[in-house]
Amino acid sequence: MQNLINNQWRIAARPDGNVKITDFEFHQEQVATLNDGEFLLRTHYLNLAPVMRMYMQGISAAGEKPLSIGDVIHGRGVGQVIDSKHPDYQVGDVVQGQIGWQTYKISKGTKRERFYKMPQRGLSYSLGVSQLGMTGFSAYCGFVKCGFPKAGDTVLVSGAGGGVGSIVTQIAKILGCTVIGIAGGKEKCDFVKSLGADSVIDYKNEDVANRVNELASDGLDIYFDNVGGETLVAALNNLAMNSRIVLCGSISEYMLDEPFGPSNYTNLRSTNSSMNGFFVYNHEADFSEAEEKIAKWIKDGLIKVKEDITIGFENMPYGLQNLYSGKNRGVALCRILDDSELIFD
Ligand SMILES: NC(=O)c1ccc[n+]([C@@H]2O[C@H](COP(=O)([O-])OP(=O)(O)OC[C@H]3O[C@@H](n4cnc5c(N)ncnc54)[C@H](OP(=O)(O)O)[C@@H]3O)[C@@H](O)[C@H]2O)c1
Repeated sequence: MQNLINNQWRIAARPDGNVKITDFEFHQEQVATLNDGEFLLRTHYLNLAPVMRMYMQGISAAGEKPLSIGDVIHGRGVGQVIDSKHPDYQVGDVVQGQIGWQTYKISKGTKRERFYKMPQRGLSYSLGVSQLGMTGFSAYCGFVKCGFPKAGDTVLVSGAGGGVGSIVTQIAKILGCTVIGIAGGKEKCDFVKSLGADSVIDYKNEDVANRVNELASDGLDIYFDNVGGETLVAALNNLAMNSRIVLCGSISEYMLDEPFGPSNYTNLRSTNSSMNGFFVYNHEADFSEAEEKIAKWIKDGLIKVKEDITIGFENMPYGLQNLYSGKNRGVALCRILDDSELIFD
């Protein structure tokens, strides 16, 4: 492979508030020649996730070395192997894993990069990065394996119009639960309703504490928490007996200097309830079950595929910005290369 240019987004500055374009440096460099044991990936899709702002701040999400100014930003994506000197990766293989914000990646296929070969070629590769990737796995493993849902449960989902939340909302309906979704703004709430939520709370225009109390008059059996902050306090004030809170994310706190801690956590005690922290990579043993279940639900028309696709690598920073301003509907990702660019045998 000669004269390939790798485009990268690197950290130019630590974000203060939402990310802005000056926090990013666009960098170009020649793709190096492969050594034995390496393969070359060409990026097709990159995931956009709130955690990427944390990476830019030098915070490590899973024990990895924190990023410095000038480093390529972490990010999972889908790419195709276009050259290989690695025995386990052949030209044409489509994989998802830790590619980073770049259009090419030379990899040794290390454990930390967590590359998974995409099982079925017939599927849209964008599905691979979202519903059948970490977003879908987070929704399934977090909700099913940590929330222990059963038919008839009343479930509150925050961030219900985002990637993980939109899938949790749909899985909860499939499993026979009553779902209250929380999202920001009327249009986003309408979107959550269109996913099947029984009722919605517009946290930007309504009093969340009052509305949760009103809508969950018999208490919440499950709260799937994507946002933390005052919404978690409201959920803790409305627990049914033996309820479960799943701590998936706390985006309302990611830009605070000090994390927010709920003072009413003792309500867990009086209701025999539990609050479980959850990190998707600690559930690798459940990924194939998650993939099988979600793929079937999509095939049966029970899960609507909702992707919010930013087009073009150059627009990655704006895609990340949109997550914090709530512009995305469903799973956010960026299409770098069209599927027509895939190499087939
Ligand atoms: N534990 C894990 O392993 C794991 C894995 C994946 C993701 N996560 C976490 O799960 C959450 C969802 O991730 P995602 O990738 O699916 O992102 P996402 O929900 O698609 O995007 C973020 C959404 O958060 C909402 N938001 C932004 N600022 C907010 C604020 N101040 N208060 C309340 N809501 C706010 C916005 O929706 P509105 O328009 O409704 O404001 C936005 O669409 C994040 O907290 C993420 O860090 C955790």
